[in-house]
Amino acid sequence: MGKGKCIHYNNRIMITKSNKNLTLFLLGTLVLTVTQTSASVFNNVSCTSNNTFTPNTTFSTNLNTLLSYLSSNVTNNVRFFNATAGNDSDTVYGLYMCRGDVPFPLCRECVGFATQTISSSCPTSKEAVIWYNECLLRYSYRFIFSKMEEWPRHQIKIPLGDPVVLHTSGFYSALVSIFNELPNEAALSLSGSNRYAVKQENASSSVTLYGLAQCTPDLAAGDCKRCTADAAAQFVKSCCGGNIGASALFPSCIVRYETYPFYQHSGTSSPTMIEGGGNIRTEVIVIVVVLVVVLAMVFCFGYFFIQIKARKKRKETNDKENFGQEITVLESLEFGLATIEAATNNFSQDQRIGKGGYGEVYKGILPNGEEVAVKRLSTNSKQGAEEFKNEVLLIAKLQHKNLVRLIGFCQEDGEKILIYEYVPNKSLDHFLFDPQKHRQLTWLERYKIIKGIARGILYLHEDSRLKIIQRDIKPSNVLLDNAINPKISDFGMARMVATDQIQGCTNRVVGTYGYMSPEYAMHGQFSEKSDVFSFGVMVLEIISGKKNSCSFESHRVDDLLSHAWNQWTDESPFQLLDPNLQSYVPNEVEKCMQIGLLCVQENPDNRPTMGTIVSYLSNPSVEMPFPLEPAFFMHGRMIRHSVEHESSSGYSTNHSFSSSVNKMSITASAFFPR
Ligand SMILES: *[C@@H]1O[C@H](CO)[C@@H](O)[C@H](O)[C@H]1NC(C)=O
Ligand SMILES: *[C@@H]1O[C@H](CO)[C@@H](O)[C@H](O)[C@H]1NC(C)=O
Ligand SMILES: *[C@@H]1O[C@H](CO)[C@@H](O)[C@H](O)[C@H]1NC(C)=O
Ligand SMILES: *[C@@H]1O[C@H](CO)[C@@H](O)[C@H](O)[C@H]1NC(C)=O
Ligand SMILES: *[C@@H]1O[C@H](CO)[C@@H](O)[C@H](O)[C@H]1NC(C)=O
Ligand SMILES: *[C@@H]1O[C@H](CO)[C@@H](O)[C@H](O)[C@H]1NC(C)=O
Ligand SMILES: *[C@@H]1O[C@H](CO)[C@@H](O)[C@H](O)[C@H]1NC(C)=O
Repeated sequence: MGKGKCIHYNNRIMITKSNKNLTLFLLGTLVLTVTQTSASVFNNVSCTSNNTFTPNTTFSTNLNTLLSYLSSNVTNNVRFFNATAGNDSDTVYGLYMCRGDVPFPLCRECVGFATQTISSSCPTSKEAVIWYNECLLRYSYRFIFSKMEEWPRHQIKIPLGDPVVLHTSGFYSALVSIFNELPNEAALSLSGSNRYAVKQENASSSVTLYGLAQCTPDLAAGDCKRCTADAAAQFVKSCCGGNIGASALFPSCIVRYETYPFYQHSGTSSPTMIEGGGNIRTEVIVIVVVLVVVLAMVFCFGYFFIQIKARKKRKETNDKENFGQEITVLESLEFGLATIEAATNNFSQDQRIGKGGYGEVYKGILPNGEEVAVKRLSTNSKQGAEEFKNEVLLIAKLQHKNLVRLIGFCQEDGEKILIYEYVPNKSLDHFLFDPQKHRQLTWLERYKIIKGIARGILYLHEDSRLKIIQRDIKPSNVLLDNAINPKISDFGMARMVATDQIQGCTNRVVGTYGYMSPEYAMHGQFSEKSDVFSFGVMVLEIISGKKNSCSFESHRVDDLLSHAWNQWTDESPFQLLDPNLQSYVPNEVEKCMQIGLLCVQENPDNRPTMGTIVSYLSNPSVEMPFPLEPAFFMHGRMIRHSVEHESSSGYSTNHSFSSSVNKMSITASAFFPR
């Protein structure tokens, strides 16, 4: 028995059973294997009634062919098989899956019953699914492979009985604990054609709960996890609804719990072992088998404890080193292309909600009803698959209430797709610059938005373990949810999409003119301070409701930055305010304006860090430096400045000059009228 098998045999039932039971159990397996007397347990069948075919047509022939493919291929000792019959519009797709622990003879028998029952129960349905305890089988006129489907569904409840058992707090916590882990375990358990996991947990001294989760193995790991989690939610949500046992049966996955060990741990090799010893006396076989199993158990126990210890240790170490865990996370983020196509109605134009530099965005609905935004990246990116996955993993770890959450990704058939949480309102630019279509934002909301964006960028810069520079901060990359909370989107895109591709769009650098800091726009140098610059432009836009003009040709001096600077030096900061604002808080407006101007300083060293900005915004009495004239690189002055820089004796002189000005300005701000 190899190491791998040993893990597979990590036999929790046997551990809790006495040796007498074990013997009986093995005898039972022997009888089952040799005589195949047990019948499959039928649960339910679901036929579509709104889509039917007429008998004696190509479709019905194809369906019969398909069912015979399924029932005949089960002899090949596979627990999952998918097949297609026919072509053109009459194609029939079908699959069967046997429960992960069911011995092959029972699997074969169950699939045999299922093919007969499904055609007699659904004589004219173009789509149907049938569930037995031991297997499920489905067919359809649609392509159903690799696609997570949760409807139709069937639930079995075993109401009970004994309220004492149910009302021990242990029952619920055991149930929750089992189904917290099973979806993950099932998703990652793909061995051969089996995506299956079981788990048991003590509910009290006398009651043990046994849980099982299984997906069709054609699903991506992430789809499997979601499917089993959704299925388990059916009974975990409101503890078990008073049921001592329950099953939730979906077309793509099944979950079940009971208070007795309803699944078996007989694997593929024990029947072989027994069949091999046909003419030796049964007792001898049993003794030998028991000895072998006991030895295996001792070995597995040891292995198991070492595993547990190792796992604990691993948890304590930095998870950067924890390669296995990273793979786990990554797999649970992966969606199948078929699921995404189903969610977005095949990337239909009706579902399209936006188009950006990186690709098109579609609204989608996952089979569990969750709304998502699906970003289909332009496919000519040269980035490799592994690199892309690594970036996705890094980005998915960034979780902050002011960042749009990355839910998953899909990489299949040359597609690169990112799946984000769906944020219901449009982006900030629609609210600011398109007031005809949208209601006006109040000052309260604007201030909240400014603070939220600042916190989101701070998280990207400092709080997350990675230092992420957004590089394209602008109102159209800020989404607003129903409560007008800002959420930054598109962060990490520069990392995720190979840069040569993006440079194609702007011919220079990532980002949008008008928001780009001079050093970035002209020399391609970016740092946190370039994000700070873009943030500053955006703050001034939020205050004024005007877009910063950004044309290189025009030499107009009425762009937003100079306008703001002029109002500021004229000591009439409220002139800058969006005329549509009915009311505002004067010192908040002043503070934001001062922050905005500080952020757009030409010298990056003179711009505050995001940390400083957040402290300015959250602390009402903090002293802020006085801003210098901002960068006007749009109007040729930039060139003058850079020439000056070159003629000066060097960067350090320039630096000390600016910091002394900075100190001066702190004093100056004390005199500035507030
Ligand atoms: C299948 O389950 C539904 C409820 O989910 C029930 O109404 C129906 O009678 C069941 N069908 C069979 C054949 O048991
Ligand atoms: C059948 O009905 C279901 C919902 O009841 C619907 O989703 C599906 O599109 C319908 N199929 C056809 C072919 O009308
Ligand atoms: C279908 O074909 C079979 C044999 O080919 C025939 O016995 C049966 O009557 C036909 N049924 C219909 C509805 O045409
Ligand atoms: C089985 O399913 C896969 C997708 O998981 C599909 O690519 C393949 O064509 C299917 N096989 C058959 C015989 O239909
Ligand atoms: C198994 O299914 C395939 C179609 O997917 C079919 O061509 C083949 O004949 C089947 N095998 C057996 C043993 O029937
Ligand atoms: C579909 O299959 C039939 C036989 O099964 C064959 O005669 C026909 O040419 C096929 N059509 C296409 C478009 O492949
Ligand atoms: C569960 O209970 C059994 C018997 O009461 C005990 O032997 C076993 O160690 C318990 N398992 C756990 C994980 O607590």
